[in-house]
Amino acid sequence: MLQLNPDLTDLVSDAAATFMDRFHGIATITAAAPGRVNLIGEHIDYCDGFVMPFAIDRYVVIVGCANGTTQARISSEVSDEIVVLDLTLPQEVGEPKWANYLRGVIRGFQDRGHNIPGFDAFILSSVPGGAGLSSSAALESATATFLEGLLDTVLDTREKALLCQKAEHEFANCPCGIMDQFASCFGKPNRLILIDCQTGEPELIPFENPDLTVLISNTMVHHELSDGGYAARRKHTEDGLAILGKASWRDVSSADVQAHWEKLGDPINRRSRHVVGEISRTIAAAAALARNDFETLGPLMAASHDSLRDDFEVSCKELDLMVEIARKIGRSGGVIGARMTGGGFGGSTVTLCESRKASAIATTLASEYEKATGITPQIFASRPSQGAHLIGK
Ligand code: GLA
Repeated sequence: MLQLNPDLTDLVSDAAATFMDRFHGIATITAAAPGRVNLIGEHIDYCDGFVMPFAIDRYVVIVGCANGTTQARISSEVSDEIVVLDLTLPQEVGEPKWANYLRGVIRGFQDRGHNIPGFDAFILSSVPGGAGLSSSAALESATATFLEGLLDTVLDTREKALLCQKAEHEFANCPCGIMDQFASCFGKPNRLILIDCQTGEPELIPFENPDLTVLISNTMVHHELSDGGYAARRKHTEDGLAILGKASWRDVSSADVQAHWEKLGDPINRRSRHVVGEISRTIAAAAALARNDFETLGPLMAASHDSLRDDFEVSCKELDLMVEIARKIGRSGGVIGARMTGGGFGGSTVTLCESRKASAIATTLASEYEKATGITPQIFASRPSQGAHLIGK
């Protein structure tokens, strides 16, 4: 039941072989960038909150080389089609949609004065798409890393993540926070990334206890973040802050939210309660994890999920079901905590559990979920991995 993670080396050789088939040349530049899972701190990266994701060992790989022209010719596993971009022009949003992530990142480099030489590239991914695991941030940061290789330049990591975030805002129409691109760019093996989204400071926190396993359960249910649900939530939080008359959510207490409950009105009062609660839960979770206090950490993850379900309303019945199954397995069955992860409206849950019971837990999650929904979920374990990097350069 527990899926194996495809090895990055295999992914790279498969990509290089397909590149050769499609472009009849040898790829000289190879970039890889991971997706992410978030342990806690959801929908507060755009509220000056704290988030605690890590880069997973699933990657978007881009292989390619300069082609001596002024065109980018890009192809992916999605279809045989080769998308052609005219690099003499500033990139704009266009069709097909998947290429917008690349156009947006290329535009970021163009806006910084880079003259991008023509190139051929092929993209292969082991990050499940639409699963709340940031396949789009992985594609953006892989593109940025590929361009670094092509231009023989290195961007500051923060600048690179922000360039990718801007591409997501302007070319994919999703007003996301900084979590996904930061996780994909700053990821390190055996480290969680605790991000203070007010200062934009990522802190790498050790996560190397072999007795702990993080299971990711993809419900295989997907709703587009760009369809308005995400933007609407973000707007609610902005309106809430304005009504509270504060400059930052970090200056708001739960007593402030209670005192202004009627004035905030529904649903902004509940959205506000989520933000304030989730900020303090994330701080408490980081402290609990540092002292291996799982009896505190588990209930914090549970409270995070309940708040996302009831107050922020970004969960869905499949995510709730997957979390419910994990809760039933419980501490005695090896589950420490479970919650939805990422933007929501479908996607994945994250289950922190004891390694020796992880395989049995995955089996129960998969079979109970399938029994109730008729959908076969995708369940795999993940460890914190290396962020965006060039391979063999
Ligand atoms: C998406 C966004 C992130 C973050 C999460 C929710 O993944 O891209 O910036 O807001 O949703 O925590």
